[in-house]
Amino acid sequence: MAFSYISFDSQKTRLFLTFTFQLLLLFVHQSRATNFNKHFDITWGGGRGKIIGDVLTLSLDRVSGSGFQSKKEYHFGRIDMQIKLVPGNSAGTVTAYYLSSQGPTHDEIDFEFLGNSTGEPYTLHTNVYTQGKGEREQQFRMWFDPTSKFHTYSIVWTPQTIIFLVDETPIREFKNMESIGVPFPKHQRMRLYSSLWNADEWATRGGLVKTDWTQSPFTASYRNFGVKARSVLFGLDSTRDQKLKWVRENHMIYNYCTDTKRFPRGFPPECTVKV
Ligand SMILES: *[C@@H]1O[C@H](CO)[C@@H](O)[C@H](O)[C@H]1NC(C)=O
Repeated sequence: MAFSYISFDSQKTRLFLTFTFQLLLLFVHQSRATNFNKHFDITWGGGRGKIIGDVLTLSLDRVSGSGFQSKKEYHFGRIDMQIKLVPGNSAGTVTAYYLSSQGPTHDEIDFEFLGNSTGEPYTLHTNVYTQGKGEREQQFRMWFDPTSKFHTYSIVWTPQTIIFLVDETPIREFKNMESIGVPFPKHQRMRLYSSLWNADEWATRGGLVKTDWTQSPFTASYRNFGVKARSVLFGLDSTRDQKLKWVRENHMIYNYCTDTKRFPRGFPPECTVKV
């Protein structure tokens, strides 16, 4: 009698637990699913940008690309996003992912992913604008296929430095060098933007390779957006410094600071500082 009472009770408990667990799963799923809706607006593209579950996708076809932007503006912090880039023949497409303020004297911190023919490497283009002036390009090749899986692209922005990270590996640091007269973006709040667009006029060796529209729509996917306040940030430590050196030595394909053709009369002052 006592035994059957206990087993009845534990069955009830189990049922209750199963139910609670499923409710919890639903809640977790929904809170992740609403993550993008809470933080972002799809701003253009006539339905080509979509939020499905916990994944946001942008697509591009012959008629239009698409884009989204954050509802909030940020003033320093760390921003993480997992992105899976356009697979296959993505030549001519550009996936831009950047922080930017508004107006002609805007600040901007850029990641731009330039697509390529099937099997050929993407170019990761970076730039930093202060008060409307950029011209600080560095380009990289990734050490993995950025189209087969999601990878994390992060921007760490503090009053002292800007660090670009790929899967926690720093690829670029732009330090605050106001002390030697280099303007640093720190006075303007910035929003996060991303867009997928056709850039075959400039992205592919000056328009040499055209976007292959028979492959469209082209789609890039985003998930696990995260933003952390400035208070939890830290600079480069020595292992990160080593990694940055490794990236610069092995994966950097362009650096404005070594482009003598472009700066025949001397490099900008920040180029003289060792990073
Ligand atoms: C595409 O791949 C070729 C061959 O590796 C490379 O030279 C070119 O720079 C790449 N284009 C882009 C836009 O990354």
